[in-house]
Amino acid sequence: MAKKWDKVLSWNFTEPNVKWFEGAKLNITENCLDRHVETQPDKIAIIWESNDVNVASEHITYKQLHERVCIMANVLKKHGAKKGDRICIYMPMIPQLTIAVLACARIGAIHSVVFAGFSANSLVDRITDATCNIVITSDGINRGGKQIPAKKVVDEALQNCPSVTKVLVANCCNLETQMTAGRDYWLHDEIASITDVNCPAEMMDAEDMLFILYTSGSTGKPKGVVHTCAGYMVYVAYTFANVFKCGNSDVFWCTADIGWVTGHSYIVYGPLLQGATTLMFEGVPTHPDAGRFWAVIDKHKVNQFYTAPTAIRSLMAFGDEWIKPYNLSSLKVIGSVGEPINEEAWNWYHKNIGKEKCPIVDTWWQTETGGIMITSLPGIHPQRAAHAGFPIPGIQPVLLDGAGQELQGNDVEGYLCVKFPWPSILRTTYGDHERCRQTYFSNYKDYYFTGDGARRDEHGLYRIIGRVDDVINVSGHRIGTAEVENAINESEYVIESAVVGYPHDIKGQGIYAFVICKNIDSNHDHIRTDVQETASRIIGKLARPDKIQIVSGLPKTRSGKIMRRILRKVAEGDTTNLGDTTTLLDPSVVEEIIKGAV
Ligand code: WTA
Repeated sequence: MAKKWDKVLSWNFTEPNVKWFEGAKLNITENCLDRHVETQPDKIAIIWESNDVNVASEHITYKQLHERVCIMANVLKKHGAKKGDRICIYMPMIPQLTIAVLACARIGAIHSVVFAGFSANSLVDRITDATCNIVITSDGINRGGKQIPAKKVVDEALQNCPSVTKVLVANCCNLETQMTAGRDYWLHDEIASITDVNCPAEMMDAEDMLFILYTSGSTGKPKGVVHTCAGYMVYVAYTFANVFKCGNSDVFWCTADIGWVTGHSYIVYGPLLQGATTLMFEGVPTHPDAGRFWAVIDKHKVNQFYTAPTAIRSLMAFGDEWIKPYNLSSLKVIGSVGEPINEEAWNWYHKNIGKEKCPIVDTWWQTETGGIMITSLPGIHPQRAAHAGFPIPGIQPVLLDGAGQELQGNDVEGYLCVKFPWPSILRTTYGDHERCRQTYFSNYKDYYFTGDGARRDEHGLYRIIGRVDDVINVSGHRIGTAEVENAINESEYVIESAVVGYPHDIKGQGIYAFVICKNIDSNHDHIRTDVQETASRIIGKLARPDKIQIVSGLPKTRSGKIMRRILRKVAEGDTTNLGDTTTLLDPSVVEEIIKGAV
């Protein structure tokens, strides 16, 4: 920190306006890099494990990482980047991604990482919303046995992104790549052209923006959640240290993608702020086989392993023989994030991976919270399967009833809110503060509303039940039902659609689409395929509906509102109690929908 703060906190949840550590001057990368270069230059900062088992892993020391970040920062400067610019990063899980993120922070540019599974169309929305001027990408992406041409997606997007003037391209797959002269540059050439291996860190105010990360809500297009420099830094460093108990010679592995908040906070910033060794894995859990995670844990002697319930459930389904060849004895703490972990998966994880000796940290948090909010601390708090547990010290969660009253005591269930700010609470949604107020601070006056429902058990442990809004959590990825509907309505066959989530054995929730079609006589399989492909094309593969039911009408009230409650029941396969359907315009449509359920 270059200057200490004048005031720790000022806040109100009405506007909302939250400021932490006002008056402080800092650059987060000095705490991630320079500080450790002084005390432990040769410690490994990043272990990179390739998608391909035959490619050697990379070990990058703090000193090397510092130098690579400075060079990358100088590349960005060479291309005109400056403090306050928005830079879009669309990359696979290669070291250049972490380096690009840190290089932006180094020069005070605001990074907006977009998960590289999103479509060109989704990329356009995000680049346009933030008016990014530079895109950092790669020729392709190695994913299991496939290579995905990332630069092609960027090229397609940039036809509709006039704000972008420069594209920096990492060579990841040796793909033949179209380069537009004057706009596109190979990163390795640019790096080679830099002679200055130092780049002084830009001094930032505590509340200057550090990054934007887009996330889905119940309405409209994804919104850019904004995090600022000091508060985010402090909270992520604090939670990383206390939740994972990562010792000085430990190896920490979070399997998320840096395209999601989990990767931002617990692959990049948290571990590096604490001078830890963070493992970055390029591949997927099932390549070359379903033992890959366990092989990587043994290979690099991973001590803390942090993954998602969907991965646990899918590996569990492959059978225990994939674990047998590995001893996993290095593990000390194992974690879960992104969606509720069901008891069966929790028990399997505890027994087979944690060998009944590793505490499980089931961490509840959100893109908007920046860091972990609720989890039982290992060795301190009691554990209970499928329960995230206690709030992190300093966090004040509450459960509200439908009338907005706080539920007191234990053994209660309600809407999960937080009543006091923490350092890494979102500050705004980029370019639209009113939307931030509406979404998070207007449902319940003077509370931050999470969008989740939760239960506090008889001992005070929290169990997250799931979203109470129109957001589906598919394999730990948030997606708004409205977003999927808008996308599939683009299919040439679809007149109207309604999308809901349903319980899915592996993904947690699957996407169930009810569609009214124009040409009902067409081959239904063909229509279904087209609907799926349209969703993939417009949003990305993660938005592809798992089930599609062709219907002649949707259950609408007289005012034209779709009664999603009914559709959810049908999708769940539980039509015993559909509740009051008398307000429907045409109740007979419900019968048809029940009969045709897929
Ligand atoms: C859900 C991911 C149950 C929740 C860090 C939340 C969870 C949304 C858990 C945020 C958990 C996350 N148990 N549910 N341990 N962790 N969720 O923004 O519904 O991608 O609102 O952040 O995931 O997803 P996001």
